[in-house]
Amino acid sequence: MADGSVPDRNLALELVRVTEAAALGCGRWIGRGDKNAADQAAVDAMRAMLDTVSMSGLVVIGEGEKDEAPMLYNGEEVGNGQTPEVDVAVDPLEGTRLTSVGQPNAIAVIAVAERGTMFFPGAAVYMDKLVGGPEVADVLSIDASAGENVERAAKARGVRPSEIAVVVLDRERNQPIIDGLREAGAKVNLITDGDVAPAIAAARPGTGVDLMMGIGGTPEGVIAAAAVKCLGGVVQGRLWPRTDEERQALVDAGYEPDRVLATDDLVGGDNVFVAATGVTDGALLRGVRYTPGGAVTDSIVMRSRSGTVRRVEAHHALDKLERFSGREYR
Ligand code: FBP
Repeated sequence: MADGSVPDRNLALELVRVTEAAALGCGRWIGRGDKNAADQAAVDAMRAMLDTVSMSGLVVIGEGEKDEAPMLYNGEEVGNGQTPEVDVAVDPLEGTRLTSVGQPNAIAVIAVAERGTMFFPGAAVYMDKLVGGPEVADVLSIDASAGENVERAAKARGVRPSEIAVVVLDRERNQPIIDGLREAGAKVNLITDGDVAPAIAAARPGTGVDLMMGIGGTPEGVIAAAAVKCLGGVVQGRLWPRTDEERQALVDAGYEPDRVLATDDLVGGDNVFVAATGVTDGALLRGVRYTPGGAVTDSIVMRSRSGTVRRVEAHHALDKLERFSGREYR
């Protein structure tokens, strides 16, 4: 990577083509009740576009292990093999079920950071997460109760707790958090799936989301941390093993289940790139919109070193894309 004294290449501007491709790939599966087909279409389209990106990427967070995932599996090499050497986290379709039933907040997302700097989730399926934007970054603590965090966030922002909107995955395991938030008077926005888009939204001003809390996927927490590194704000996490056996397996593999993982523990690099494209409408991004002969995508493109955040609206001519890619987009 460049020494930082001169402007250099912003990889995220190439990565946005990758997430656009994934979103267009699964866009035609929105609301069709088949989450696996939607996911497969996103994976296929993302994989095809990834090798056009000039980088030597190693998938740290992907679609699972090699034998279960034909593409974008953990450990797979992606990119065209040139420098820089990077870790890659992909979620070609974050919110497979949301897409299949036409609900908000499904996105295609990719994050890239210097090689060896991304937390490898391994067997840690779930993580307790707390995410907030720059205004509240210094006051939040995952060791404090949910209600206490709302009070601290409200104080830092100079508003009442009832004006703090918190997104939580609607799961039984999150019920104590939901109860604590309601007791504190916060606005609790329960979601059925897809906590990455709300986590990124929590770190962005003007999205209507102030905090994201609760136990969700660990890989999703790492992707959220990459975005927060670019946007400012905070992610705190703590692994959440479901059973004693799972806890022991984590300890045996060298993880410390009780440790609080800060943003830098999840993504240690200081040159982090993130691109995300909306699949269905949400607080963060608009979903894929179809026009006669075309489609419009809405993406966000970020880089941690410069702190630049771009919004990219792309108009795609599907007939032309189909002709030269040999891929079906309609
Ligand atoms: P998909 O695999 O359908 O895309 O779901 C992703 C997700 O909803 C994440 O956003 C979230 O962190 C995790 O799954 C929650 O896991 P679970 O559904 O097992 O509670």
